[in-house]
Amino acid sequence: MSEAGIDRIGFATTSLFLDMRDLAKSRGVDPEKYTVGIGQAEQSVAPSSQDSVTLAAAAARDAMKGEDPGEVDMILMGTESGVDASRAGAVYVKELLGLPDRVRCVELKQACYGATAALSWALDYVSMRPRRKVLAIGSDIARYGLNTPGEATQGAGAVALLCSADPKILKVEEDREFLTALAADFWRPTYSDCAIVDGHYSTEVYLEFFSRLWKRYKEETGRGAQDFEAFLFHLPFAKMGLKALREVLKEADPDRAEKLRSRFEASAAYGRRVGNIYSGSLYLSLLSLLESSLLEAGSRIALFSYGSGAEAELFSATLQEGYSSFLAPERHLAAINGRRKVGVGEYEHLFSDFLPSSPQDYSCDERYFAGPFRLAGVKGQKRQYEAGM
Ligand code: COA
Repeated sequence: MSEAGIDRIGFATTSLFLDMRDLAKSRGVDPEKYTVGIGQAEQSVAPSSQDSVTLAAAAARDAMKGEDPGEVDMILMGTESGVDASRAGAVYVKELLGLPDRVRCVELKQACYGATAALSWALDYVSMRPRRKVLAIGSDIARYGLNTPGEATQGAGAVALLCSADPKILKVEEDREFLTALAADFWRPTYSDCAIVDGHYSTEVYLEFFSRLWKRYKEETGRGAQDFEAFLFHLPFAKMGLKALREVLKEADPDRAEKLRSRFEASAAYGRRVGNIYSGSLYLSLLSLLESSLLEAGSRIALFSYGSGAEAELFSATLQEGYSSFLAPERHLAAINGRRKVGVGEYEHLFSDFLPSSPQDYSCDERYFAGPFRLAGVKGQKRQYEAGM
């Protein structure tokens, strides 16, 4: 039996945010549609100097605070906003972190499911090599386009999971159930920097996949709603997870249902402000839950990962003794609270100031340089990354 799991959780987002009420006003929409109907209060805004690589590196640096970099054997980066169709973003991350050349670096892609695949392979690896560690990262910038329905569900950020065979925070159980079926709910052709999404259909597929997996999970494990202290979901927007949770609430007694409902709120707290971070979103829910509510060691948590296209996984994890002393709520809240608010005009300008999809050189706007790592620009078709001053 594997004891492997998550040792540390790192997080990063950008230094700017848009208030959803400002966006609603500008789009002629009732603000409550965004804040209540969709469930989002703010979204992080990325200048072109922040991308899936710089965010991944910042989250990984956060996860590695006080850790020995010499123990890390692999960086597995799940992303669907990768910066190159060939080279893995994880290679840049390794360089930015100054990790030794013997580290293996790979990028994984299956929409928002990528980080779960990274986590799964990281756990298998450390189970076989108990003295080694692996960084599994989910990093993305969610872009749907100006004046589109998906605009209200954008965001930017990364979560890095340092995995080990003797985890300090969470042991991941081996009760994993998977499901894959072709669905045209969301995708991004290589010619476009924005996703194509059929949002209502995507919600249908997500809910159907959750239903099928939950049914199978119960049959395989004999567990039910009463066996869990919390349910965590991939949250492209908070309402999506709430719809799936309702299926479980119907099966729980009133006390358990109330507990699961309030823990869902705790799990959605960070995401309501950061927005959709695609592959890292489920793990941002995990971080939000652990850093904003008190759960006892030994508590079992269910995790539902979903990636459009479509693939899903349902599994559970158990909190380790003393786990809370390995979290960093002050640091993570400071990252969210410390962002500068931008108006709709500045957000639209930043959204449109995107790297050219042609061989020309490009310089990122220095006024937006922030965070530990940044993209300075592109020269001779090579991306120029640097550490912040
Ligand atoms: N006050 C409160 N709630 C309101 C409201 C108001 N004034 N106006 C509308 N709402 C509610 C609606 O009833 C609906 O809630 P429900 O889903 O519980 O019924 C919700 O707000 C959204 O309204 P809707 O009309 O469906 O919005 P939309 O057509 O603009 O689309 C999304 C919303 C979420 C589908 C769209 O933003 C989207 O496609 N996002 C991307 C989704 C995605 O990324 N999927 C793939 C990844 S899993």
